[in-house]
Amino acid sequence: PRCFALVPAAGVGERAAQGRPKQYVELVGRTVVAHSADALMQVPALAAVLVVLAPQDGAFEAAAPMFVGPRAWVARCGGATRADTVAAGLQALRERGARDEDWVLVHDAARCLLRPEWVQNLIEACVDDAVGGLLAMPVADTLKHGPGQRAQRTVDRRDAWAAQTPQMFRLGLLERALREAKTQGVVVTDEASAIEALGLRPLLVPCSMENLKVTLPQDFALAERLLRSRA
Ligand code: CTP
Ligand code: MG
Repeated sequence: PRCFALVPAAGVGERAAQGRPKQYVELVGRTVVAHSADALMQVPALAAVLVVLAPQDGAFEAAAPMFVGPRAWVARCGGATRADTVAAGLQALRERGARDEDWVLVHDAARCLLRPEWVQNLIEACVDDAVGGLLAMPVADTLKHGPGQRAQRTVDRRDAWAAQTPQMFRLGLLERALREAKTQGVVVTDEASAIEALGLRPLLVPCSMENLKVTLPQDFALAERLLRSRA
């Protein structure tokens, strides 16, 4: 079986409020999506990297001019939710020859601090696994449950992990999981949640706090500082 990366990049970035989708914000001379796609392209184990854009997106080519070559694939089939974008991307992978048993590593375009060695770790940890898994971090903070700005209770954090991406599952299994989650009305904010809803248990592969997702306006300055400190 081969390994493919699928990068959902069809969001609008509402919370980031940057006046354009956050994947097109420039950090240290390169857009967020270019950083993410580039890190994946540096992983030799990946047969190809598919970036999934919104159908009307006209900004990608200028935003990621280095994303070219036989392993750099683009599909304009993003959907209304992240799960819809991923499902459409899986279909696009199939149309390009991917099969049930191939692995798909789904990675948020907005997680632009990704390092190739983390991806390699995930692949090594999961490639012989029956289910697959994801990069994640044990939660350090005490977790409060609202609703709203009043704490109702404290969530037991001893077994709590913060999910990151990439998340690595077999194409056929992930398609089925997303389809079932949709019919059952399961809230799916990542691939693993759909897999868990089938009763399967994804492997949690420890990563780094640095593997952050730019989400809020203040996240861009932090991401930029981290990227700069690497150069
Ligand atoms: N995403 C996508 N298609 C969607 C929604 C999200 O491909 N319909 C992608 C985003 O582009 C991002 C990743 O999924 O790379 C993670 O989602 P999130 O951080 O929620 O990004 P946005 O949905 O763009 O941001 P917001 O929720 O603040 O609008
Ligand atoms: Mg979103």
